[in-house]
Amino acid sequence: MSATILDGKALAARRRAALAERVAGLGFRPGLRVVRVGEDPASGVYVRNKDRAAKEAGFDSATLQLPEGTTEAELLALVRRLNDDPAVDGILVQLPLPAHIRTDAVLDAVDPGKDVDGFHPVNQGALALGRPGLVPCTPRGVMLLLEEAKVSLSGARAVVVGRSTIVGKPVAALLLAANATVTVAHSRTRDLASECRRAEIIVAAVGRAGLVRGDWVANEATVIDVGINRGADGRLVGDVAFGEVVDHAGAITPVPGGVGPMTIACLLENTVQAALGRRGA
Ligand code: GUN
Repeated sequence: MSATILDGKALAARRRAALAERVAGLGFRPGLRVVRVGEDPASGVYVRNKDRAAKEAGFDSATLQLPEGTTEAELLALVRRLNDDPAVDGILVQLPLPAHIRTDAVLDAVDPGKDVDGFHPVNQGALALGRPGLVPCTPRGVMLLLEEAKVSLSGARAVVVGRSTIVGKPVAALLLAANATVTVAHSRTRDLASECRRAEIIVAAVGRAGLVRGDWVANEATVIDVGINRGADGRLVGDVAFGEVVDHAGAITPVPGGVGPMTIACLLENTVQAALGRRGA
């Protein structure tokens, strides 16, 4: 038996098409501003993809590219200007920021109602409390892939590998809200392989190529691979050794074409949610 391949690219395309139709009927164009500071090469690709997808969905979208030498005060001033701009519904500050800028200070400055990344403490706190708010995009994408695959979450043993605020912690909160029994594993976890073997659902989000090996994955388990790493040959590879897992897992996301496209679709959905929220809808 070979695993079902969870096609995030196709699911994201369907959701983007549905959203574009919804946007066409809104009577206004949701406004998105993507802020990039400096020249982190991976960020360049991500930012271009987000901006292009937003425009395709009918948004008023723009990328604001700032030089590497931008000061924290200058970036904070820009964020406040976007907070105050009525044409702007969503603000996304692409990470990582240059080392001389305090990321927390910048994320804290974003209006929580325009925080389409869901990184502000108000939105992260709402998620932890199980209250409504803007949910980080990649974790939302992970949940939509599980839903699409009809994976039963209630009572299921889920292991999240990685505890970042961008993916690991919020995905754990969402799985818990869906009544999974959630273990969050990380770099200090003793015997990570055994933790994974017990799981019916594995979400790998650490950023280490091929960390999750074939014999870490139980037969018929669902494996969601959030990692985007450069392999030795320069190709994109995930955190899961795909070739060792695909023969016996129940379902697995490919890299690329799994979680990545879902992140962008969810960013657009979050922006519409923010736009409607700001209009009291
Ligand atoms: N860097 C890596 N992933 C993300 C993301 O989802 N949002 C932002 N803003 N930066 C990132």
